[in-house]
This record gives sequence, structure tokens and C-alpha cells, in this order.
Amino acid sequence: MENLAYALVQVVHNFGAAAVVGGALAALWPVPHEPGLQRRLAWLVLAGWAAQAVSGALFGAVSFHYYGAFPDIHGVAVAALRIKVACAATGFALAALFLLRAARWSDAARHRLWQALSALAAIALGAAAFLRWFS
Ligand code: HEM
Repeated sequence: MENLAYALVQVVHNFGAAAVVGGALAALWPVPHEPGLQRRLAWLVLAGWAAQAVSGALFGAVSFHYYGAFPDIHGVAVAALRIKVACAATGFALAALFLLRAARWSDAARHRLWQALSALAAIALGAAAFLRWFS
């Protein structure tokens, strides 16, 4: 049951990672975008960041449930986890800002926001490798 719990959380976490990386890069892809496409991508990316935060916390909850403690991580692993949490909070806020305000923005401003969301997703994905191997 423990392995199943970790695997199911990992499924959500993997698809969340794909959504935040793929959604932001798709919005930057140099092809004409029909009206509304960027908004749908912003919803996908917003849901992806939320899924990462929730499933990331669930990894800890599963450990706590089975061992009565959170994983004992130090140094590089803690730094990588902090980076991921910061990226998730900032990414969620930026995607929400896009959905609330971007209708009034210039193309250049929207482009800059998608660049920021892509960078956050890439940084979080990179940090995941360090969390994995320094844990
Ligand atoms: C609040 C945010 C997040 C938390 C708390 C969190 C937490 C975790 C934890 C505890 C693991 C398992 C550690 C391990 O055994 O390797 C993990 C794995 C992973 N996370 Fe996150 N994460 C967060 C955000 C993200 C984001 C934003 C991404 C990608 C954009 C991401 C990508 C991954 C990947 C790819 C793995 C699997 C690594 C591997 O096993 O090779 N995570 N995350």
C-alpha cells in the first residue's frame, strides 16, 4: 500500500510537471495563437502549479503516515526543496495574475510573463533532480 500511495502521488506530480513546463513553452511557441488559447494554457499552468504543491505535500504526508516523521533531508536537498516551493508559489501567482489581468496587456508584456513562467518551470524541474539525488 505504501508503494501504491507513493506511485499515485508521483503520477499527479509527473503530470503537474509536464503541465507547467509544456504549457508555458507552448505559449511561447512561434506560431499564430487563436484568441483564447493563451488563456486556456494559463489555466493548465495554474492547475499544474497547484497540483505540484498539493502532490509535493502529499509525498511528505505519505512518509509521515507510514514512518511518523518527514524524510530527514539536509543541505542541498533542503535548498532544492525550498527552490521548488518558491517556484510553485511564484508560478501559481503569475498564472493567476495572467488570468485576471492579461486581457489589458500588450503582446510584449504577455510574452515576458510566459518567459518568466517557463524559467520557473525549468528551475523547479532542475531542482527536482537535486532533491532526488541529495535526499
Ligand atoms: C511545492 C512544490 C513541490 C514540492 C513540495 C515537491 C516535493 C517533491 C518530493 C517530496 C519529491 C520526491 C523526492 C524524491 O524522492 O525524489 C518530488 C519529486 C519530484 N518532483 Fe517535486 N515538489 C514540488 C514541486 C515540483 C515542481 C514545480 C516540479 C517540476 C516542474 C517538480 C518535479 C518533480 C519531479 C520530476 C520529481 C521526481 C524526481 C525523481 O524521482 O527523479 N516538483 N517532489
